[in-house]
Amino acid sequence: MSNSKVTERPIYYISTPIYYPSDNLHIGHTYCTVMADAMARFKRLAEYDVMFLTGTDEHGQKIQLIADEAGVSPQEYVDNVVDGIKELWKTMEISYDDFIRTTEPRHEKRVQAIFNKINEKGDIYKGKYEGWYCTPCESYWTDKQLVDGKCPDCGRPVKWASEDAYFFKLSKYEDRLLELFETNPSFLEPETRRNEMVQFVKQGLEDLCISRSTFDWGVKVPIDESQVIYVWLDALTNYVTALGYPEVGDGISQEKYDKYWPADVHLVGKEIVRFHTIIWPAMLMSLDIPLPKQVLGHGWLLLDGGKMSKSKGNIVDPVKLIERYGVDALKYFLLREYSFGQDGLYTNETMINRINSDLANDLGNLLSRTIGMADKYFGGHIEPDKSADGGATEKFGKDLADLATSVAAKVEGHMDKFAFNRALEEIWVLVSRSNKYIDETEPWVLAKDESRAEELKTVLYNLAEALRIISLLIQPYMHHSSDEIRKQLGIGGEEIKWSDASVWGKNASYYVTKGANLFPRIDVAKELEELEALSAPK
Ligand code: ME8
Repeated sequence: MSNSKVTERPIYYISTPIYYPSDNLHIGHTYCTVMADAMARFKRLAEYDVMFLTGTDEHGQKIQLIADEAGVSPQEYVDNVVDGIKELWKTMEISYDDFIRTTEPRHEKRVQAIFNKINEKGDIYKGKYEGWYCTPCESYWTDKQLVDGKCPDCGRPVKWASEDAYFFKLSKYEDRLLELFETNPSFLEPETRRNEMVQFVKQGLEDLCISRSTFDWGVKVPIDESQVIYVWLDALTNYVTALGYPEVGDGISQEKYDKYWPADVHLVGKEIVRFHTIIWPAMLMSLDIPLPKQVLGHGWLLLDGGKMSKSKGNIVDPVKLIERYGVDALKYFLLREYSFGQDGLYTNETMINRINSDLANDLGNLLSRTIGMADKYFGGHIEPDKSADGGATEKFGKDLADLATSVAAKVEGHMDKFAFNRALEEIWVLVSRSNKYIDETEPWVLAKDESRAEELKTVLYNLAEALRIISLLIQPYMHHSSDEIRKQLGIGGEEIKWSDASVWGKNASYYVTKGANLFPRIDVAKELEELEALSAPK
């Protein structure tokens, strides 16, 4: 036995939805993944032990049909799209800890084991699935979904049909779900969305069809080879199968499940909140395992008033934007521009204006002015004046230091609420305050007066300190810029700690070096034209 005390780091588990690899992902998926990434990086910086999971939801009839049309097997089709998705996350530098694909054996075996467990609990029965069937689309529709009595997808006639299928006793969990919403309000926020779910459950839940026999691109039902498990049981379970739950004797232990489950947050788009807050908890209740602590539904990015979607084809390709503006700028824009939970309109113009004003003007100029003056006046070496008299500019320096050391706590408060835009807004208060400090202290005037050289040095030192703090504060959202600022400040190699963002005077002096412009200014009119040309139909 050892006497040394091991302090365990707090655990944080966050997931994104697993996306359908029916086509390349667009900026809407990127938005969700970037938020999860920023939160994961934020928690890591605050010294949490983080598990950040993303992945792909690869089974189902739709993928099978698309693959048929493309003349390849469904596996070949998804392998190809998933390669592209992984490439996108690499380009975006998404720091996921695991990427789960529902076609992986580790998942398939566990989905079957979960099916068996729920079945043993008495929560699965065989019944008849029925509805309006469109033969060419191989899809069932409800009365309400039909358009003029015809298939809503292809417009062709439908016929009433039924097939054997397995059902999960969702209705059995109505009371426990209502109790969950009532006793644990933070499970689903905001309140309006929770009320919608409560109403939905109160109207009465129908049991859920969890298998199909009309297509075979899926995980086989373990007790009936003629059926495959239908999407949501296969998809939702990824959040635990990726952690090794349950053990199936394939050499993968349940260690991660024991450590990370229950998840802190399932981050999802608002359209799938219902699945995550009704079906998923009911399945977990049936399995007798804990529920995730929270499900958070974010809003949609809209394009010309409509939801951006793969099937509509009105998408914005994130790769093209990164090529032009870089990862940091795109991440910053997505996190700063939109309010969590609300829909937001995407336009190229808003993005370019954001980059120009906040990044090129405010942050970029602050860095280049500070480094430029430190270099010009002191050959890059700056340290605070140790004498008692701080000169006429002293009070401005105190103001700056007070503000700078108060931002981290405010950022933490906003991040607790997933208010990324508010967190960044708060950081930019400091960026603006620092720029204002330059205007207040007028270093170019101080430089003209030999007797005020020490005061000038202190002004530049204060700016360097503010920039050091800014570099820590922005690290979860824009790590390249964060690194570049520290590199130019001459502290690139040092270990970074979130707690240092609340300390003034952490570095006794700086040896700064000029570097690249953080964000070159974009010519709006020219850029808009080029972007327009890029997205025009060929
Ligand atoms: O629903 N704006 O996958 P999916 C913002 N496989 N976010 C958007 C968006 C937009 N325009 N479009 C997509 C599925 N998203 C299932 C999930 S989870 C167990 C199974 C994001 O490929 C948003 O997070 O349709 C949404 O919930 C998700 O992508 C849906 O991705």
